[in-house]
Amino acid sequence: DEKHTEQQNAKHAQLESYRSDGRGQAMTTNQGVKISEDEFSLKAGERGPTLMEDFHFREKMTHFDHERIPERVVHARGFGVHGQFELYESMAQYTKADFLQRPGEKTDVFVRFSTVAGSRGSAETVRDVRGFATKFYTKTGNFDLVGNNMPVFFMQDAIKFPDFIHALKPEPHNEMPQAASAHDTFWDYIANNQESAHMVMWVMSDRAIPRSFRMMEGFGVHAFRFVNDNGEAHFVKFHWKPLLGVHSLIWKEAQRVAGLDPDYNRRDLWENIEEGNFPAFELGVQILPEKDEFKFDFDILDATKIWPEENIPVQIIGKMTLNRNVDNVFAETEQVAFHVGNVVPGIDFTNDPLLQGRLFSYTDTQLIRLGGPNFHEIPINRPICPFHNNQRDGYGRRTIDVGQVAYQNNSLANNDPHTVTDSHGGYVHYQEKVEGNKIRARGSSFKDHFTQATLFWNSMSPVEKQHIKDAFSFELGKVKSPSVRTQVLDMFDHVSHDLINTVAANLGMTIPVRKNNTPPEQLYTKTS
Ligand code: HEM
Repeated sequence: DEKHTEQQNAKHAQLESYRSDGRGQAMTTNQGVKISEDEFSLKAGERGPTLMEDFHFREKMTHFDHERIPERVVHARGFGVHGQFELYESMAQYTKADFLQRPGEKTDVFVRFSTVAGSRGSAETVRDVRGFATKFYTKTGNFDLVGNNMPVFFMQDAIKFPDFIHALKPEPHNEMPQAASAHDTFWDYIANNQESAHMVMWVMSDRAIPRSFRMMEGFGVHAFRFVNDNGEAHFVKFHWKPLLGVHSLIWKEAQRVAGLDPDYNRRDLWENIEEGNFPAFELGVQILPEKDEFKFDFDILDATKIWPEENIPVQIIGKMTLNRNVDNVFAETEQVAFHVGNVVPGIDFTNDPLLQGRLFSYTDTQLIRLGGPNFHEIPINRPICPFHNNQRDGYGRRTIDVGQVAYQNNSLANNDPHTVTDSHGGYVHYQEKVEGNKIRARGSSFKDHFTQATLFWNSMSPVEKQHIKDAFSFELGKVKSPSVRTQVLDMFDHVSHDLINTVAANLGMTIPVRKNNTPPEQLYTKTS
């Protein structure tokens, strides 16, 4: 109906008002002064020096000099598209999130797919995790589901993220390699931070070389909370399921394509959308009652664990269709600011220690990447609902805040709607009871690193196992330090002897009988 159409086009309409197509219009300076000539700078005579008073030259060059902004510290290489999410069934029983109430209702979304390690111009078909970040422009504010194409993560606690990224990114002394995992520091980190075992199994699998952004799953990874109108909560994990199914490249294809077309994944997405062949993903939720929090032999707050789908089935609740390419990659894809902390009433956090740390990181990095505290005013980031508060000023402020009063409490602006809070419709944090001593330690329920890694390996078909063996062999084969290789083999021996024996043989390493307390470098000797 009319309301739905209005709703589904709300973001599009908002963006329209910012579009600029200067064709056919007189060229001016940024001060609006018409330009008579744009190909020659102002000189003293035909062969003379350029004059400082040439404001047109100065302005044009200055703007150009400042065209670049820092690339994202991770997920620098990404591609964004617009779309719509349509709800299949009401989730009112579990959450009061407004966009999850009325079946058939559509909500505008913006999605950015990315690789993690490579810089902005790097090849797309590399072995890496893929980011899958979705911004829902709901009527009660923006909800960002900032996920990946794998359901677990490398670590349990956010404080290790800088260490991990320092190990993953090109090495500092020579800035090589762009490839995510084929080097010493990556594997040195892995072997010395064994909670990464499960995630590394995914990264060595075909999931790390998706054939297309249209053919990969997405996962919110963390346990979140749904909270309903009565204030009752359930734990929830989010899943995206591609209607085209999950498909990967094989490693040889991935390498060849990286050389032939480093833009392979974005080209595929762009062209399919241009042709009207719209990719779609269904949204699934795993819902866990609070009373079942301690029912499992792993901690449901541990981001290195999946919730088994046999016990907690994925319930499909809606569908997202990606149907419109951006007008301008910089304005939209580069300037979009996702944040796992952007939630709406009805969706809340849990104490997952990885999630808790992410809540700090995103705004912090965007403050510098997007030049100050007003990046929420950039068109792609603006909510479609009105937004007001007493925040003021700062670099690049676009809003002209009128009135005398920008503070609470006040008497001078009693009727000013900017200063009124809403105790019903407003966001109320779930009142989870929390108590404990202040400690820095791994929780006792976070100590098993290998059970799910092994389950993952055991669930693979023979072909998939072969691909994982080949991946370990290739990636570890790039590692120069015999000690690091040895430590990695030692670590994944906890997952599968078969895996490790094959990799050791491929690398020309022999596997002697292990003796207690033998330094890892003496356990395996490189024979060729
Ligand atoms: C991007 C930090 C874990 C998914 C980023 C960015 C930072 C960051 C600083 C760049 C943001 C920007 O410049 O706008 C962290 C930290 C983590 C963490 C500190 C753990 C402690 C994760 C996890 C996921 C994830 C577990 C997936 C579930 C993403 C995605 C992007 C991103 C998809 C790219 C967003 C975009 O397309 O703009 N992260 N991250 N991150 N992160 Fe994380």
